Amino acid sequence: MNGKFALEARNVSKHFGGVIAASEVNLQVSPGELRCIIGPNGAGKSTLFALLCGIQRAESGDIFIHEHNVTQMQPFKRIRLGVGLTFQTTRAFQDLSVRRNLAIPNPNLAVYKEGHQRGAKRLQIALEGFGLDPSDDTRAGELPHHKLQWLAISMVLAGYPDTVLIDEPTAGMSRDETDRTTEVLKQLNAHGLTIVVVEHDMHFVKSVAEKVTVLHQGRIFMEGNVAEVTANEDVKKIYLGHAH
Ligand SMILES: Nc1ncnc2c1ncn2[C@@H]1O[C@H](COP(=O)(O)OP(=O)(O)OP(=O)(O)O)[C@@H](O)[C@H]1O
Ligand SMILES: [Mg+2]
Repeated sequence: MNGKFALEARNVSKHFGGVIAASEVNLQVSPGELRCIIGPNGAGKSTLFALLCGIQRAESGDIFIHEHNVTQMQPFKRIRLGVGLTFQTTRAFQDLSVRRNLAIPNPNLAVYKEGHQRGAKRLQIALEGFGLDPSDDTRAGELPHHKLQWLAISMVLAGYPDTVLIDEPTAGMSRDETDRTTEVLKQLNAHGLTIVVVEHDMHFVKSVAEKVTVLHQGRIFMEGNVAEVTANEDVKKIYLGHAH
Protein backbone atom coordinates (compact mmCIF):
# COMPACT_ATOMS: atom_id res chain seq x y z
CA MET A 1 0.00 0.00 0.00
CA ASN A 2 2.96 2.32 -0.41
CA GLY A 3 1.75 5.07 -2.71
CA LYS A 4 3.88 7.93 -3.79
CA PHE A 5 2.83 9.92 -0.72
CA ALA A 6 1.82 8.62 2.67
CA LEU A 7 -0.28 11.76 3.12
CA GLU A 8 -1.31 14.50 0.79
CA ALA A 9 -3.46 17.63 1.02
CA ARG A 10 -4.39 19.28 -2.28
CA ASN A 11 -5.74 22.83 -2.15
CA VAL A 12 -7.42 22.22 1.18
CA SER A 13 -9.35 25.08 2.74
CA LYS A 14 -11.34 25.53 5.94
CA HIS A 15 -12.66 28.53 7.81
CA PHE A 16 -14.36 29.00 11.15
CA GLY A 17 -16.65 32.02 10.94
CA GLY A 18 -14.39 34.81 9.72
CA VAL A 19 -11.17 32.96 10.57
CA ILE A 20 -9.33 31.27 7.74
CA ALA A 21 -7.73 28.25 9.41
CA ALA A 22 -6.58 26.55 6.18
CA SER A 23 -6.24 28.29 2.86
CA GLU A 24 -5.46 26.21 -0.22
CA VAL A 25 -2.96 24.10 1.67
CA ASN A 26 -0.83 21.73 -0.38
CA LEU A 27 1.15 19.28 1.69
CA GLN A 28 2.91 16.15 0.52
CA VAL A 29 4.50 13.75 2.96
CA SER A 30 6.50 10.84 1.57
CA PRO A 31 6.56 7.42 3.22
CA GLY A 32 9.34 7.33 5.81
CA GLU A 33 9.58 11.10 6.27
CA LEU A 34 9.90 12.91 9.56
CA ARG A 35 8.33 16.30 8.86
CA CYS A 36 8.04 19.15 11.33
CA ILE A 37 5.31 21.75 11.05
CA ILE A 38 5.93 25.06 12.75
CA GLY A 39 4.16 28.40 12.84
CA PRO A 40 2.80 30.99 15.27
CA ASN A 41 -0.22 30.38 17.51
CA GLY A 42 -3.39 30.19 15.48
CA ALA A 43 -1.50 29.48 12.21
CA GLY A 44 -3.70 26.44 11.53
CA LYS A 45 -1.36 23.62 12.51
CA SER A 46 -3.84 21.66 14.62
CA THR A 47 -6.60 22.38 12.10
CA LEU A 48 -4.47 20.85 9.34
CA PHE A 49 -4.04 17.71 11.46
CA ALA A 50 -7.79 17.61 12.12
CA LEU A 51 -8.46 17.89 8.39
CA LEU A 52 -5.94 15.19 7.52
CA CYS A 53 -7.44 12.69 9.92
CA GLY A 54 -11.07 13.68 9.34
CA ILE A 55 -12.03 15.24 12.67
CA GLN A 56 -12.74 18.35 10.61
CA ARG A 57 -14.08 18.24 7.07
CA ALA A 58 -12.34 20.23 4.34
CA GLU A 59 -14.60 22.79 2.66
CA SER A 60 -12.72 22.45 -0.58
CA GLY A 61 -9.73 20.51 -1.80
CA ASP A 62 -8.84 16.85 -1.38
CA ILE A 63 -6.99 14.69 1.10
CA PHE A 64 -5.22 11.47 0.21
CA ILE A 65 -3.80 8.70 2.35
CA HIS A 66 -1.56 6.39 0.32
CA GLU A 67 -3.24 7.71 -2.84
CA HIS A 68 -6.77 6.93 -1.56
CA ASN A 69 -8.97 9.97 -1.72
CA VAL A 70 -10.27 10.17 1.87
CA THR A 71 -11.81 13.65 1.71
CA GLN A 72 -15.30 12.37 2.56
CA MET A 73 -14.12 9.51 4.78
CA GLN A 74 -14.78 9.35 8.51
CA PRO A 75 -11.80 9.34 10.92
CA PHE A 76 -12.11 5.64 11.86
CA LYS A 77 -11.83 4.64 8.21
CA ARG A 78 -8.77 6.82 7.77
CA ILE A 79 -7.22 5.10 10.78
CA ARG A 80 -7.74 1.80 8.97
CA LEU A 81 -5.60 3.14 6.15
CA GLY A 82 -2.76 3.52 8.64
CA VAL A 83 -2.92 7.04 10.05
CA GLY A 84 -2.81 7.72 13.78
CA LEU A 85 -3.17 11.05 15.60
CA THR A 86 -2.22 12.41 19.01
CA PHE A 87 -3.90 15.55 20.21
CA GLN A 88 -2.36 18.79 21.38
CA THR A 89 -3.95 18.36 24.76
CA THR A 90 -2.96 14.97 26.08
CA ARG A 91 -5.64 12.36 25.49
CA ALA A 92 -5.31 9.23 27.53
CA PHE A 93 -8.17 7.95 29.68
CA GLN A 94 -7.15 9.25 33.09
CA ASP A 95 -9.40 6.86 35.02
CA LEU A 96 -8.07 3.77 33.24
CA SER A 97 -4.80 2.05 34.00
CA VAL A 98 -1.77 2.27 31.72
CA ARG A 99 -2.49 -1.34 30.73
CA ARG A 100 -6.09 -0.69 29.78
CA ASN A 101 -5.24 2.49 27.86
CA LEU A 102 -2.77 0.55 25.76
CA ALA A 103 -5.35 -2.17 25.12
CA ILE A 104 -7.88 0.26 23.58
CA PRO A 105 -6.56 0.48 20.01
CA ASN A 106 -7.25 -2.71 18.16
CA PRO A 107 -4.77 -3.41 15.40
CA ASN A 108 -6.88 -6.34 14.19
CA LEU A 109 -9.37 -3.85 12.84
CA ALA A 110 -6.83 -2.33 10.52
CA VAL A 111 -6.93 -3.22 6.86
CA TYR A 112 -3.30 -2.18 6.77
CA LYS A 113 -2.24 -5.75 7.53
CA GLU A 114 1.28 -5.89 6.14
CA GLY A 115 2.39 -3.45 8.79
CA HIS A 116 1.59 -5.62 11.80
CA GLN A 117 5.01 -7.00 12.53
CA ARG A 118 6.61 -3.59 12.13
CA GLY A 119 3.77 -2.04 14.13
CA ALA A 120 4.40 -4.38 17.04
CA LYS A 121 8.12 -3.67 16.89
CA ARG A 122 7.52 0.08 16.90
CA LEU A 123 5.18 -0.16 19.88
CA GLN A 124 7.88 -2.10 21.73
CA ILE A 125 10.47 0.58 20.88
CA ALA A 126 8.16 3.28 22.26
CA LEU A 127 7.31 1.41 25.46
CA GLU A 128 10.96 0.65 26.17
CA GLY A 129 12.15 4.11 25.20
CA PHE A 130 9.51 5.81 27.33
CA GLY A 131 9.84 3.38 30.22
CA LEU A 132 6.19 2.32 30.08
CA ASP A 133 5.08 -1.13 31.21
CA PRO A 134 2.09 -2.49 29.26
CA SER A 135 1.00 -4.52 32.30
CA ASP A 136 1.14 -1.51 34.64
CA ASP A 137 -2.09 -1.12 36.64
CA THR A 138 -1.32 2.45 37.71
CA ARG A 139 -4.16 4.84 36.89
CA ALA A 140 -3.09 7.06 33.97
CA GLY A 141 -4.29 10.11 35.92
CA GLU A 142 -1.57 9.43 38.50
CA LEU A 143 1.22 9.62 35.95
CA PRO A 144 3.40 12.72 35.76
CA HIS A 145 2.60 15.02 32.81
CA HIS A 146 5.41 13.83 30.54
CA LYS A 147 4.52 10.15 31.06
CA LEU A 148 0.93 10.89 30.16
CA GLN A 149 2.17 12.43 26.88
CA TRP A 150 4.31 9.36 26.28
CA LEU A 151 1.34 7.10 27.02
CA ALA A 152 -0.76 9.03 24.47
CA ILE A 153 1.92 8.52 21.80
CA SER A 154 2.20 4.82 22.72
CA MET A 155 -1.58 4.42 22.50
CA VAL A 156 -1.50 5.65 18.93
CA LEU A 157 1.32 3.22 18.15
CA ALA A 158 -0.70 0.40 19.69
CA GLY A 159 -3.02 0.75 16.68
CA TYR A 160 -0.01 -0.14 14.46
CA PRO A 161 -0.23 2.94 12.22
CA ASP A 162 2.32 3.53 9.47
CA THR A 163 1.90 7.30 9.71
CA VAL A 164 1.39 9.40 12.81
CA LEU A 165 0.44 13.02 13.34
CA ILE A 166 1.77 14.26 16.67
CA ASP A 167 0.68 17.66 17.93
CA GLU A 168 3.18 19.32 20.28
CA PRO A 169 4.57 16.18 21.93
CA THR A 170 7.08 17.99 24.14
CA ALA A 171 4.80 20.77 25.45
CA GLY A 172 5.46 21.21 29.16
CA MET A 173 8.38 18.77 29.20
CA SER A 174 11.81 19.36 30.74
CA ARG A 175 14.91 19.39 28.55
CA ASP A 176 15.72 15.77 29.47
CA GLU A 177 12.16 14.61 28.78
CA THR A 178 12.18 16.49 25.46
CA ASP A 179 15.48 14.85 24.50
CA ARG A 180 14.08 11.43 25.32
CA THR A 181 11.00 12.12 23.22
CA THR A 182 13.27 13.22 20.36
CA GLU A 183 15.32 10.02 20.59
CA VAL A 184 12.29 7.73 20.59
CA LEU A 185 10.66 9.52 17.64
CA LYS A 186 13.90 9.30 15.67
CA GLN A 187 14.16 5.59 16.45
CA LEU A 188 10.55 5.02 15.37
CA ASN A 189 11.23 6.89 12.15
CA ALA A 190 14.33 4.74 11.58
CA HIS A 191 11.95 1.76 11.84
CA GLY A 192 9.87 3.06 8.97
CA LEU A 193 7.24 5.14 10.77
CA THR A 194 6.20 8.24 8.83
CA ILE A 195 5.94 11.10 11.32
CA VAL A 196 4.42 14.55 10.97
CA VAL A 197 4.95 16.57 14.09
CA VAL A 198 3.84 20.04 15.15
CA GLU A 199 6.37 21.44 17.56
CA HIS A 200 7.33 24.82 18.98
CA ASP A 201 10.64 23.74 20.47
CA MET A 202 13.24 24.72 17.85
CA HIS A 203 15.89 22.59 19.55
CA PHE A 204 13.60 19.61 18.90
CA VAL A 205 12.93 20.70 15.31
CA LYS A 206 16.63 21.13 14.57
CA SER A 207 17.50 17.73 15.95
CA VAL A 208 14.78 15.67 14.22
CA ALA A 209 13.53 17.20 11.00
CA GLU A 210 14.94 17.09 7.53
CA LYS A 211 12.13 19.09 6.06
CA VAL A 212 10.13 21.80 7.81
CA THR A 213 6.81 23.30 6.75
CA VAL A 214 6.01 26.77 8.06
CA LEU A 215 2.32 27.66 8.39
CA HIS A 216 1.09 31.22 8.77
CA GLN A 217 -2.53 32.41 8.73
CA GLY A 218 -3.73 29.09 7.35
CA ARG A 219 -1.28 29.09 4.47
CA ILE A 220 1.96 27.30 3.78
CA PHE A 221 4.41 30.14 4.19
CA MET A 222 7.57 28.23 3.40
CA GLU A 223 8.93 24.71 3.10
CA GLY A 224 12.55 23.72 3.22
CA ASN A 225 15.27 22.06 5.21
CA VAL A 226 15.99 23.22 8.75
CA ALA A 227 18.89 25.45 7.71
CA GLU A 228 16.87 27.18 4.98
CA VAL A 229 13.87 27.76 7.20
CA THR A 230 15.77 29.04 10.23
CA ALA A 231 17.86 31.40 8.05
CA ASN A 232 14.82 32.89 6.29
CA GLU A 233 14.26 36.50 7.34
CA ASP A 234 10.48 36.38 6.81
CA VAL A 235 10.16 33.22 8.90
CA LYS A 236 12.17 34.94 11.62
CA LYS A 237 9.76 37.86 11.53
CA ILE A 238 6.54 35.86 11.73
CA TYR A 239 7.70 33.11 14.03
CA LEU A 240 11.22 32.48 15.14
CA GLY A 241 11.54 35.80 16.92
CA HIS A 242 8.80 34.59 19.29
CA ALA A 243 9.78 30.93 19.59
CA HIS A 244 11.90 29.55 22.37
N1 LIG B 1 -13.26 24.32 16.21
C1 LIG B 1 -12.98 25.61 15.99
N2 LIG B 1 -13.94 26.55 16.02
C2 LIG B 1 -13.65 27.85 15.78
N3 LIG B 1 -12.43 28.31 15.49
C3 LIG B 1 -11.42 27.43 15.46
C4 LIG B 1 -11.63 26.03 15.70
N4 LIG B 1 -10.45 25.39 15.60
C5 LIG B 1 -9.55 26.33 15.29
N5 LIG B 1 -10.10 27.55 15.21
C6 LIG B 1 -9.42 28.80 14.85
O1 LIG B 1 -8.66 28.55 13.67
C7 LIG B 1 -7.38 29.17 13.76
C8 LIG B 1 -6.30 28.09 13.67
O2 LIG B 1 -6.31 27.36 14.88
P1 LIG B 1 -5.36 26.13 15.15
O3 LIG B 1 -5.75 25.55 16.46
O4 LIG B 1 -5.36 25.22 13.98
O5 LIG B 1 -3.94 26.85 15.26
P2 LIG B 1 -2.54 26.25 15.72
O6 LIG B 1 -1.56 26.64 14.67
O7 LIG B 1 -2.65 24.83 16.07
O8 LIG B 1 -2.24 27.15 17.03
P3 LIG B 1 -1.48 26.77 18.40
O9 LIG B 1 -0.01 26.95 18.14
O10 LIG B 1 -1.98 27.79 19.36
O11 LIG B 1 -1.83 25.37 18.79
C9 LIG B 1 -7.36 29.95 15.07
O12 LIG B 1 -7.70 31.27 14.81
C10 LIG B 1 -8.41 29.25 15.91
O13 LIG B 1 -8.99 30.13 16.84
MG1 LIG C 1 -2.38 23.77 17.74
